[in-house]
Amino acid sequence: MTPAHSAPGIPPLVPGGFPLVGHGLSLVGGSRRLKFIESVRAHGPIVRLTVGSRDVVVVNAPGLIHEMLTTQADEFTKGLLFEKLKLFGKDALPIAEGKPHLRRRRLMQPAFHRQQIAGYVTTMREAAEPYVAAWDSGTTLDLKTEMQLIAQNVVMSALFSASPPRGPAHTILNSVDTVFRTAIKRALLPVSALERLPTRGNRRAGAASGALRAAVADIIAEHRANPDAYDDIVSLLLAARDESGEALPDDEILSEIVALLAAGSETTAVTLAWLFHELGRNSDLERRLHEEVDRVVGDAELTVDHLAQLPYTRRLVQETLRLYAPWLVTRQAISDVRLGDFTLPAGTDVIWSAYALHRDPDLYPDPLRFDPDRWLEERPQPPKGAFIPFGSGKRMCIGDTFAWTEATVITALVALKWQLTPERGVVKALAEITTHPSSRLRMIPRPRDR
Ligand code: HEM
Repeated sequence: MTPAHSAPGIPPLVPGGFPLVGHGLSLVGGSRRLKFIESVRAHGPIVRLTVGSRDVVVVNAPGLIHEMLTTQADEFTKGLLFEKLKLFGKDALPIAEGKPHLRRRRLMQPAFHRQQIAGYVTTMREAAEPYVAAWDSGTTLDLKTEMQLIAQNVVMSALFSASPPRGPAHTILNSVDTVFRTAIKRALLPVSALERLPTRGNRRAGAASGALRAAVADIIAEHRANPDAYDDIVSLLLAARDESGEALPDDEILSEIVALLAAGSETTAVTLAWLFHELGRNSDLERRLHEEVDRVVGDAELTVDHLAQLPYTRRLVQETLRLYAPWLVTRQAISDVRLGDFTLPAGTDVIWSAYALHRDPDLYPDPLRFDPDRWLEERPQPPKGAFIPFGSGKRMCIGDTFAWTEATVITALVALKWQLTPERGVVKALAEITTHPSSRLRMIPRPRDR
């Protein structure tokens, strides 16, 4: 790494110049990682640690994170975590960089526009309702798995109109899981040379990636053959044109679909699992949710018009997004970058954590308390840039409105029908791709007596 030339009055800083707060860490798995990433804040606005053999800088200060993601965004690529996601296709939105990213983002934005998302509410309800209705009273649910199935089905329904037939749907679900987990492992462990070996894990990841692409290719071909039969994200992508009138080739649409499935399912599912976990621990919060959905929706079918009348449900979603935000997102400096008073040399690997930021007592009073009412307008609000579960700037989550809407819809659907009681056992937060509940998040559904 090249040391940076400092601006006048600013000492040149290389990553070695920041306090070293952890050495030889692996960043995958376990609740200790979450405690660690939270503890790092105490050591200063920017600190250094080593992950395996790599030197990594953690940006802790909210102002510096904001600067990195917005005004200085052009100085960074997405870094470690996303390098390895090239498994999904190098042009896909979460992976593309620079001008190609901007072009792709412009092309895809209309499919995620607020108005477009409002049109998916019925699709979301129809995709989620059969799962929620199929629960057996008194039979324990593995809530994370249930929410994953529901969220995957909702994303697939919005992407492909109808749920694909059971066969392709299962291929897609299983393959997304395998491909994604492999990518994360590869990103966070220093094993680059091992990736090309024909180990069982690598063969399985290769096969999953192939099966996934084949299943999605079939769906695209079906849309091309019957263009009038569909009104969904795939048809919007097929019809989209860039400034020069060019359409997206099929293999690039395929990459986008695969990336959307991966980016859009697990994230929302774990948010919902945490939300119900918190309600299971606090019957007063649960009672208020039941009161709101009964009053606003009752026996009617949930529609987009109900959503604006569910402010408490929305605050529950917001508080869950605060307390259980993604714990790790990466960047890499393209050139020497001034960040506040610091200079990061070109090539520096950077980490930022919304999970840690959202638990900072300087930004949120009593930060570990799950308190949806902290979002009431009359309460003091956190400073700008302090709530970033979806990131910020040009790489901010394109699916944020989708996720808000989906989480509100599913929370309301569950609350209208069921009361979920936790099984005994301690639920831990684990540092996976997002902040996961441990598999002990088991809850027992009982029909609501409305
Ligand atoms: C609670 C749910 C979700 C959370 C917490 C979340 C979080 C994030 C974050 C933090 C990023 C930015 C990563 C970075 O700055 O490097 C991101 C990007 C992205 N997300 Fe989400 N996301 C969620 C749901 C969704 C959904 C539902 C979709 C699509 C259906 C989606 C699609 C994407 C895509 C395509 C990107 C890449 C955008 C770009 O690079 O231009 N996400 N998400």
